[in-house]
Amino acid sequence: MAQLIKVTLPNYLSNLPIPDTAGGWFRLSLRDWISLIPPFACVAGATYVSYLAFCPKARAPPCGKVNPKILKNSPKVVDIIDVEDITEKAVFCRCWRSKNWPYCDGSHGTYNKENDDNVGPLIVKKE
Ligand code: FES
Repeated sequence: MAQLIKVTLPNYLSNLPIPDTAGGWFRLSLRDWISLIPPFACVAGATYVSYLAFCPKARAPPCGKVNPKILKNSPKVVDIIDVEDITEKAVFCRCWRSKNWPYCDGSHGTYNKENDDNVGPLIVKKE
């Protein structure tokens, strides 16, 4: 490993055809451009991974769907709650991540943290 970092990598980088002037880029041969592809791909990949790691808004939602797993074999998820069954208040999930569907179990907190979102439950209170 030390050999790679101290000798091989510096030798590889010093032998890359990096021009000294801006005009030198236009004088590179096809072979030079091909030899620059691996290091530029590494830099681009490291930049992209860093961007994803440090910029939460860059990450896509987990699956691109609102409902990731609740009753997926059903064409439509419908829940009917009789208001008379609500004693004092009922807290309903709106993030589709609850393990106690259709009631909120607090899973929206984890979802919001991981996705930089702000969804929360619907609270129905009886007077
Ligand atoms: Fe989904 Fe709370 S668990 S809103």
